[in-house]
Amino acid sequence: MGAARWDGIIAAYREFLPIRPDTPAVTLNEGNTPLIPAPAVAREVGPNVEVFLKFEGLNPTGSFKDRGMTMAVTKAVEEGSNAVMCASTGNTSASAAAYAARAGMSCIVIIPDGNIALGKLAQALMHGAKVFAVAGNFDDALRIVREVTAQFKITLVNSINPYRLQGQKTGAFEICDVLGDVPDYHFIPVGNAGNITAYWMGYKEYHSMGLVQRLPKMMGFQAEGAAPIVRGHVVEKPETLATAIRIGNPASWKLAEAARDESGGVIDMVSDEEIVAAYQFLAQQEGVFCEPASAASVAGLLKYARAGYFSKHHATSVGGYASGAKLRIVCVLTGHGLKDPKNAIEFSPKPISVPATVDAILEHVTLERR
Ligand code: F0G
Repeated sequence: MGAARWDGIIAAYREFLPIRPDTPAVTLNEGNTPLIPAPAVAREVGPNVEVFLKFEGLNPTGSFKDRGMTMAVTKAVEEGSNAVMCASTGNTSASAAAYAARAGMSCIVIIPDGNIALGKLAQALMHGAKVFAVAGNFDDALRIVREVTAQFKITLVNSINPYRLQGQKTGAFEICDVLGDVPDYHFIPVGNAGNITAYWMGYKEYHSMGLVQRLPKMMGFQAEGAAPIVRGHVVEKPETLATAIRIGNPASWKLAEAARDESGGVIDMVSDEEIVAAYQFLAQQEGVFCEPASAASVAGLLKYARAGYFSKHHATSVGGYASGAKLRIVCVLTGHGLKDPKNAIEFSPKPISVPATVDAILEHVTLERR
């Protein structure tokens, strides 16, 4: 079997999307990301467990945002718009800038000054967006974007644009298509809370059409310093090294709570230390390099596993663990590690500077002679 042609999520799932049959897709062939087995993570979780990483960092601009952006920009073109605008912690701006370039539209992005990862800034600039770095956080940026797009003819492409979530729900479709079922648990980082909402929408849609017979538990994780949903109030000054999810007042707050409650899952938080530990573990034990915010899903899984959550909550559930079937867990890795070279270098061993000789290398490593 050779490689199958893949024309992006609109071509693959058009009948599930609110789009006319003849509307041309603005696409960079996003989606169809791999579900990578994670045996080292599974060993940490326990026996009879399968863990898969839905590696969304392998989308065209390096994050899951491309699934939503192909829909938002396609619909913007369908509606006759010639400009898009978003607030962003980085990935949305990178994706909006790329898809706007593809569509020949102009793009304005508003980012929190000093708090976006370098790769994301480079992307937005390189794709030709007009980038404003505001003296404020993401929540301030989103407030400005809501105001401007309400008053002027420019399409808002944050996830409050309903087409964004429609596109992003295809991540759930792909997981079901590959596994032939839903996972038992779906772990996902939570920032503005759009993606957990979109995945839940996708799972429910497949379920209501009879394509899967049950639903997963949605397990969302915020960063401790930016955990408004967990704390039950807006966080005025969100702080976390996972800048992608440095958000104090998520737009899809209520929808995320509904996903949690309807699925019998949780929205909880992980510390920056737990995020960094999972970030390093994935890179060093699984060979998978994601950005810090993405590692919040695996940090949450490891935290819950170590607290005995699965033996308590899953042992008695139907068809799972107890009956001998493997417990299946999917963690979404939302963005690629190359987005954030600064944190990668900070949390890795430093290069060793040496003279350009064999002996200098051999002083630092022990190798067996041939
Ligand atoms: N992971 C990454 C890498 C992200 O960039 C984001 C959000 C999230 C997780 C959280 O997803 O907001 O749907 O709950 N990034 C947005 C942005 C806010 O502007 O790029 P969410």
